[in-house]
Amino acid sequence: MQKIVVLGSSNVDTTLHVENFPKPGETINAQKVTEASGGKGANQAVAAAKSGSETHFISRVGDDALGTWMLDQLTGYGVLTDRVLKTEGVKTGHAYITLNSEGQNDIIIDHGANYELTPKDVEGAKAVIEDADCVIAQLETPIAATIAAFKIAKAAGKTTILNPAPAIKDLPKELLNLTDVITPNETESALLTGITISGDADLEKNAVKLHELGLKYVIITYGSKGAYVSSPVFTGLVPAFKVKAVDTTAAGDTFLGFLAGGLASDLGNLHDATVFACRASSLAVQKLGAQPSIPDRAAVEAALKEG
Ligand code: RIB
Ligand code: NA
Repeated sequence: MQKIVVLGSSNVDTTLHVENFPKPGETINAQKVTEASGGKGANQAVAAAKSGSETHFISRVGDDALGTWMLDQLTGYGVLTDRVLKTEGVKTGHAYITLNSEGQNDIIIDHGANYELTPKDVEGAKAVIEDADCVIAQLETPIAATIAAFKIAKAAGKTTILNPAPAIKDLPKELLNLTDVITPNETESALLTGITISGDADLEKNAVKLHELGLKYVIITYGSKGAYVSSPVFTGLVPAFKVKAVDTTAAGDTFLGFLAGGLASDLGNLHDATVFACRASSLAVQKLGAQPSIPDRAAVEAALKEG
C-alpha cells in the first residue's frame, strides 16, 4: 500500500451561510451556522487516507475539547494521528468561513496551535517520513517545520508535494529547492511568479516562471476549468468535470490528497493522477463542509466510469 505523510494545519471550521457576502460596514444575519472538521493539512490527510493510502498526519492542536474532537474526527476518517501533538494552553486552530448561495467562500483563520508546529516535532516523525512514498505540505503551519520535513524526505529519496496555500509572496528558495511538485491555484501562482492569470495563455507563462524557480512538476489548479499541468511527463490542461458547486471548501485539499494517492509513488502517473484528483474534487464541491465532503476511492472510481 502506498504511504503518504501530510504535514499541516488542523482547524475547526465554523461556516456562516449567507445569501450574499456582507459589504464593508454591513451587518447581516446568517441563514444557518454549521461546524465541521477542516484545516488544509487535515483535509489533505483525510483525502489521502480516503484515496486508499496509509496516511500519517503531522500537526498540532490545542489541549482544549476541540483538539480532542479533531483527533476523533481524523481517526474516524482513517488518518493515523500518532504524530498529531497537543500544545498546552493554546486553542485548536479555528476557521471562520462565510459561504454564499453560489457555493463561494471567504475564510478567516484563527491559527491557534497550528503555529506551534516545530522542526523538533518533525524530527520526532523522522522514521515515519523516511518510510513514506510521498510527503505533502501547505502554508498554514510554520515554514521551518515544512523545510525540516522535506529535507528528511529528499534525503531518503521521497517525493515532496507543496500546496502553496494560503498565498505567500516570497517563499524561501530552500523550500522550493526541496519541492518536486508544486500545486498553486491561479492566485497563489500569480503571487509566486508576478504574472497575473487572466486567460489560458497566462497558465503557460506562469508554469515557465515556476520552472525557472526550479520547480520541475507544476500543477496550477484552475477552479471550475480544471488543472494545468506542466512537467517532463505531461503538459496540458486537464479539464474539470462539470458539476454544480454547493460548497467549494476543501475542493483544493481533496485534489491534493487524491493526486498523491493517484501517483502511487510514481511521478510518471502525473496525468492520470490529475484526472483522478479532478474527479475527486468535483465530488467534494457537491457537499457541504470540509472533511465531511471528501469522497472515498470507490466513489471517485465509480464517477470516473460515468465520465
Ligand atoms: O482549504 C480549506 C480549509 O482552509 C478549510 O477547511 C479551513 O479550515 C481553511 O484552513
Ligand atoms: Na465541500
